[in-house]
Amino acid sequence: MNKNDLIQKLPKTELHLHIEGTFEPELMFEIAKRNNIKLPYDSVESLKNTYEFNNLQEFLDIYYQGVNVLKKEQDFYDLTWAYLLRAKADNVVHAEIMYDPQSHTERGIDFDYAINGIHRALQDGQSKLGISSYLILSLLRHLSENECLETLQLAIPHLDKIKAIGLDSSELGNPPEKFTRLYAKADELGLLKVAHAGEEGPPEYIWSALNILDIDRIDHGNRCLEDEKLVDYIVKEKLTLTVCPLSNLKLCVVNDLRKHPIKTMLDKGIKAMINSDDPAYFGGYVNDNYKAVTKALDLSEEEIIQLAKNSFTGSFLSSEEIAKYIAQIDRLKKGVLY
Ligand code: ADE
Ligand code: ZN
Repeated sequence: MNKNDLIQKLPKTELHLHIEGTFEPELMFEIAKRNNIKLPYDSVESLKNTYEFNNLQEFLDIYYQGVNVLKKEQDFYDLTWAYLLRAKADNVVHAEIMYDPQSHTERGIDFDYAINGIHRALQDGQSKLGISSYLILSLLRHLSENECLETLQLAIPHLDKIKAIGLDSSELGNPPEKFTRLYAKADELGLLKVAHAGEEGPPEYIWSALNILDIDRIDHGNRCLEDEKLVDYIVKEKLTLTVCPLSNLKLCVVNDLRKHPIKTMLDKGIKAMINSDDPAYFGGYVNDNYKAVTKALDLSEEEIIQLAKNSFTGSFLSSEEIAKYIAQIDRLKKGVLY
């Protein structure tokens, strides 16, 4: 079996995916039209031409502009359903999906519209596509902690639909410790905790996300490699890093995929796994990410299989469900390698 076939065949999860980052230009134009909104671009092509970024902030400016056309519950349903169809095609069997409630409430959209539309699509994803999922309420770190606490308050009637809290948006200048009370409150509410850390921010941000916010999983975490003690700690604690190769390339976190740290992470024993982050903007969904790093770093079949296994062990699925998928991968591995 060639490596691309193996990537296609492996069951996998996606744990670092912003639903707003799956908004394909074609769907954006369609929803804009039915909501009578004029986009500041005259075609899909001219919109796509803006997808050139020198850093995270340049991307975020375009990404927040894109969500402006999402107004109704059905819009959020359609956005999520389109992602689930794409995930199914890549043999994603479980997804832990982030959404940014504040990028909608800040525009005057009722809090309930986004969460209800996304949740309804996720339920259909389970019943019609067999994809299980959890929802992560991701808060915007460029806003104040009090604003984030107010948003978390709005989520309380919906806690049955939310698995974890997350932290995204502009990392530099907005360190994890700014959100100490927010994460303590989320913990009190019984939510699991993840946070973007070490994408552009220094290793100290990863330390404080772990020590102060007490996160269960690190989103990105690339810059942990600059701190040997941190690497040792991540390995010892079996912490998972949700790594996003094509995102790292598009946002200039790495300037060449051949220099991407995913292989070094595996070599050091870090539980890294692969995700698409914002696939509509970064040029590919999860299998495209696996294929791109496999080619650039000449990953072996063993390494590809390890990445798929890490995608399950790093998930918030039960240990029984994880064991079921690991056994499935081991059966596939037997057929491929022996
Ligand atoms: N929001 C969406 N994608 C993001 C990323 N890669 N980093 C921080 N915030 C984000
Ligand atoms: Zn992200």
